[in-house]
Amino acid sequence: MACLCLKRMSNKAFESTTLVFLLLSVVFSTPPEDPIKCTTSENTTCTITNSYGSFPDRSICKAAQVLYPTTEQELVSVVASATRNKTKMKIATRYSHSIPKLVCPDGENGMLISTKYLNKIVKVDVEANTMTVESGVTLQQFINEAAKVGLALPYAPYWWGVTIGGLMGTGAHGSTLRGKGSAVHDYVVGLRIVRPAGHEDGYAKVESLNERHEDLNATKVSLGVLGVISQITLKLERLFKRSITYVAKNDSDLGDQVAAFGHAHEFADIMWYPSQRKVVYRVDDRVPFNTSGNGLYDFIPLRPTPSNISIFRRTTEDIQESTNDAIGKCIDANASSNALFTVAYGLTNNGISFTGYPVIGFQNHLQSSGSCLDSPQDALITTCGWDPRVEGLFYYNTAFSIRLSVVKKFIEDVQKLVQLEPKGLCILGLYNGIVMRYVTASSAYLGKQEDALEFDFLYYRSRDPMTPRLYEDILEEVEQLGIFKYGGLPHWGKNRNLAFQGVIKKYKNAKKFLKVKNKYDPKGLFSNTWTDQVLGLKDGVTILKDGCALEGLCICSQDSHCNPSKGYYCRPGKVYKKARVCTHLK
Ligand SMILES: Cc1cc2nc3c(=O)[nH]c(=O)nc-3n(C[C@H](O)[C@H](O)[C@H](O)COP(=O)(O)OP(=O)(O)OC[C@H]3O[C@@H](n4cnc5c(N)ncnc54)[C@H](O)[C@@H]3O)c2cc1C
Ligand SMILES: *[C@@H]1O[C@H](CO)[C@@H](O)[C@H](O)[C@H]1NC(C)=O
Ligand SMILES: *[C@@H]1O[C@H](CO)[C@@H](O)[C@H](O)[C@H]1NC(C)=O
Ligand SMILES: *[C@@H]1O[C@H](CO)[C@@H](O)[C@H](O)[C@H]1NC(C)=O
Ligand SMILES: *[C@@H]1O[C@H](CO)[C@@H](O)[C@H](O)[C@H]1NC(C)=O
Ligand SMILES: *[C@@H]1O[C@H](CO)[C@@H](O)[C@H](O)[C@H]1NC(C)=O
Ligand SMILES: *[C@@H]1O[C@H](CO)[C@@H](O)[C@H](O)[C@H]1NC(C)=O
Ligand SMILES: *[C@@H]1O[C@H](CO)[C@@H](O)[C@H](O)[C@H]1NC(C)=O
Repeated sequence: MACLCLKRMSNKAFESTTLVFLLLSVVFSTPPEDPIKCTTSENTTCTITNSYGSFPDRSICKAAQVLYPTTEQELVSVVASATRNKTKMKIATRYSHSIPKLVCPDGENGMLISTKYLNKIVKVDVEANTMTVESGVTLQQFINEAAKVGLALPYAPYWWGVTIGGLMGTGAHGSTLRGKGSAVHDYVVGLRIVRPAGHEDGYAKVESLNERHEDLNATKVSLGVLGVISQITLKLERLFKRSITYVAKNDSDLGDQVAAFGHAHEFADIMWYPSQRKVVYRVDDRVPFNTSGNGLYDFIPLRPTPSNISIFRRTTEDIQESTNDAIGKCIDANASSNALFTVAYGLTNNGISFTGYPVIGFQNHLQSSGSCLDSPQDALITTCGWDPRVEGLFYYNTAFSIRLSVVKKFIEDVQKLVQLEPKGLCILGLYNGIVMRYVTASSAYLGKQEDALEFDFLYYRSRDPMTPRLYEDILEEVEQLGIFKYGGLPHWGKNRNLAFQGVIKKYKNAKKFLKVKNKYDPKGLFSNTWTDQVLGLKDGVTILKDGCALEGLCICSQDSHCNPSKGYYCRPGKVYKKARVCTHLK
């Protein structure tokens, strides 16, 4: 990739609606940049970031060296030599999609072990419906390889750019209340993990675990602190077909509907646009294999986006933010969400066009997507919408799950907030609403504790950490409502620092996890400051400084945590009085 020279293009060129362009144009995508950059050809003196190019505190992490094992044997020798040297290690993946600083070695002397070339299919057992892969295999690769032999992973993240090792690391999931549940790690029936060991074991040891080993419950969701998973065996199903229909309704009875809706449809999910009082229900179930249909889900926000469009969208929002154009944002949000609904979010009945519901097709064509990762570069520069090389979209991603038994109350509190401040949540309409997915209690010690509904939302992040957002206070209150009033569990791979305050106390088996950690890596060579903080071993999940609440690095406790010079002060919430949010005082 020579240069993405569109950064400073004039915006006058854009007038038409960008979505239509996205649909009609033939686009060629530039694959994401490597999140790791080194200054030497031996891959030493390196930096690592995430796929957004920005951690919550905007720091850039350093590493002395990156190693790229291609086999388990090489992996063992890498771990052994670092253990012998008492070198800190972190595991990096091809794209590094997690937002929090899970991947940073502390300081600059640490080492990164990349799974980029640990990307082979090891074994397929069509009789047992299992597939064994190396941990750096991407979800896309996994889904395609499984389908070739007539197998499918029933529930998985909607974005196929993640690796199997990485998605397990943070407990990533799809949406269902059925079977073994929504999370990929609950389909793991075996894995091999390389961990530090003593001199007598040659400084590294491979643990081979299956369902009979209790340690599997720790390694299935590990935040990368137990060692490097080299191989994973997943239990799959025979490939099947599904039927999808999106139905839009008003949100007046949403609180009453959610639990029943989740039980009624195997792959149910919901998109909620609170300021529009609108909900889009995904009615999605298995159908017999001989049902005709060859549908495809190529989710529009995960398609290649021409960089001029990303920049245009961003510039428009920047202007609306800086001129306090709340109405403009609501209108655009409306237009954007209506347009997506009209084009069925990227569903087609035959891979080419959408002609109406239901869309019926094979599981491997419907569960996940991410075409922005592929295709060679060509005349028109296109990327994933969040690519940091384009000064396009830049956002926060907050995601937490609220147990089904209290989710109605949470929804009603959000609705009360909207009543008090009708335009306060318009912004969500620009980013596909609040995506609500059903997640399930897991045997993983750091997995979901109960059946729950995960609320996931994206929203504008300023390039200037001291610049507040429009209706800053309203989304901050929603975040604190979900995480503190209703005890929501933050997704380990998303969120801003404040979401992780006291998080480990929400996990009943945290002690068991720490016991395994102590056994596998007693010196904490695979841990860093962030993992120690979220696991409750160190203080300091939040960072107090001027403006910290704007960035979600803290919950404000004094005005300077907001930005008084721009009129934002620390005040109680409107519905949740215990919340402390940055409110604009006129
Ligand atoms: C566009 C987009 C869409 C997303 N959609 C979803 C979704 O639908 N559902 C969902 O739940 N999440 C979703 N996520 C979040 C994503 O699934 C998680 O952040 C996931 O952990 C990222 O995987 P990765 O391969 O990029 O791993 P990384 O982010 O690089 O790593 C995650 C963690 O796993 C550890 N790790 C990685 N490999 C290994 C290994 N071999 N052994 C041990 N530890 C390892 C790392 O050290 C780190 O702690 C999405 C993210 C993006 C950017
Ligand atoms: C983006 O650039 C392409 C290629 O130059 C152009 O055809 C298109 O009109 C631009 N998009 C918009 C919305 O103007
Ligand atoms: C350096 O890193 C690249 C990947 O970015 C890899 O292909 C190459 O093999 C590495 N070189 C060495 C000497 O490890
Ligand atoms: C371990 O230390 C030796 C000697 O200092 C060095 O040559 C080697 O590269 C180090 N290995 C790792 C993995 O840090
Ligand atoms: C919402 O829809 C229901 C029917 O689904 C209807 O009874 C109700 O009046 C609608 N509410 C509003 C505010 O439009
Ligand atoms: C599908 O197969 C079943 C029997 O397995 C049969 O009863 C049904 O008619 C078939 N449906 C279609 C659409 O072919
Ligand atoms: C948003 O669209 C709905 C119809 O979907 C309409 O009723 C409403 O007035 C619109 N709001 C704004 C602010 O444009
Ligand atoms: C570990 O998980 C299994 C299910 O895979 C469960 O039966 C077992 O009780 C769990 N063990 C502990 C100690 O929690």
